[in-house]
Amino acid sequence: MARSQWGSRLGFILAAAGSAVGLGAIWKFPYVASQNGGGAFLLIFIGFVFTLGIAMMMAEMALGRAAQSGAVGAYRKMGGKNWVWVGYMGVLVGFLIMSFYSVVGGWTIAYIIKSVTGEVISADAKHLGSVFGSFVSDPVQPLVYHALFMALTVGVVLGGVQKGIENLSKFLMPALFVMMLVLIARGLFLPGALDGVAYFLNPDFSKVTGKTVIDALGLAFFSLSLGMGAMVAYGSYVSKDTSIPGSALWVVSLTTGVCILAGLMVLPAVFAFGFDPAAGPGLTFITMPAVFAKMVGGQLFAVVFFILLMVAALTSAVSLMEVVTSFMIDEFHMKRVPAALSMASLMFVLGVPASLSLGEWSGYTLFGKGVFDLLDYTTSNILMPLGGVLLAILAGWKIWPEIHAQLGGDRGERIVWMPAMKAISCFVAPALVGVILVYNNL
Ligand code: PFF
Repeated sequence: MARSQWGSRLGFILAAAGSAVGLGAIWKFPYVASQNGGGAFLLIFIGFVFTLGIAMMMAEMALGRAAQSGAVGAYRKMGGKNWVWVGYMGVLVGFLIMSFYSVVGGWTIAYIIKSVTGEVISADAKHLGSVFGSFVSDPVQPLVYHALFMALTVGVVLGGVQKGIENLSKFLMPALFVMMLVLIARGLFLPGALDGVAYFLNPDFSKVTGKTVIDALGLAFFSLSLGMGAMVAYGSYVSKDTSIPGSALWVVSLTTGVCILAGLMVLPAVFAFGFDPAAGPGLTFITMPAVFAKMVGGQLFAVVFFILLMVAALTSAVSLMEVVTSFMIDEFHMKRVPAALSMASLMFVLGVPASLSLGEWSGYTLFGKGVFDLLDYTTSNILMPLGGVLLAILAGWKIWPEIHAQLGGDRGERIVWMPAMKAISCFVAPALVGVILVYNNL
């Protein structure tokens, strides 16, 4: 059977941007940036994204298109049998991330409902903290929403590459931009909002430490969906005449744009109402509802905000599930429907202890971490950077001519940035990502 393909270049760019733009950009970015010197973090993040990030994005997409296969097949075909386990690792990472990502995706659905009913429309951040705490630690409720989010994701993946993933992204990504612009416009007109903008954009280099740099690199990898084969799978559906460098540049720029917009959406409003911008992960689920409660028409904005968060999470979750589904299709010749359904059920099952570890099962820990934190930590801090280093080494040292050809070098023109791209793959990426790997785990 011929391999599925994206219907258009735009569809591919929006699907890949849909994978990248997710909880990383909208939930993590604003609070990590505000804990790390605002504008200074932003500059470092942009620096990484447009060097390492774009190079690795191109390499993943090129690898997928060259091999016409998802991660496992791609590493096997291009790297030989010693490399195939890097592909297996990517599939495993997709599986592990999806199981806890879907739990958080479930929270976003719950918060849409809680905004509609008014339960979280309160200006009292303490009260909101306890609503959030008791919701996520409840043994039943978050699991129902986790199941719902998983079902939504599988519904899209069952539709296939063009009818499911591409069509959804083509519709939801522009909707996400519009919703963000509306929320930003609303926030910027609040009295005192400009202090938040200044805080976010003014670089305070005194807050920059080694950890800031490492956090920026880690977040850049996570936010761009790199290091686990998602972009290999999406690249394998790209037609021969689509330019990979041009598309990758779009995806990276759109994702960075959304990170900046997310900062501009959250921080001015937080400042205008005198909340703590460095509130950490609770900024989205605890502080933002309090901000909305103080706004005229806030309930409507709260509903829009949580829909936006859910949409962003859904298009990312779809790519995680696609990695695992395409693996079952390519390697075991399964049909799409049983492949997606069986994998989604397993991911749901693994998400159950992840969710319970925030409540009833919080006593069960390994290395001091519950299941949820353990899954998050091992994937983001160990397995994804490891996948990134190995990809860079394969691309730069072993199959460069093939990557070079996929990136347009086969047209015989001299491409000015190509040597930089090769240097990044051979030296910069393995060294820098290797440093994060060591530093994070010492
Ligand atoms: N990029 C997504 C986010 O920022 O939320 C997370 C992610 C999706 C990581 C898909 C990896 C992946 F393959």
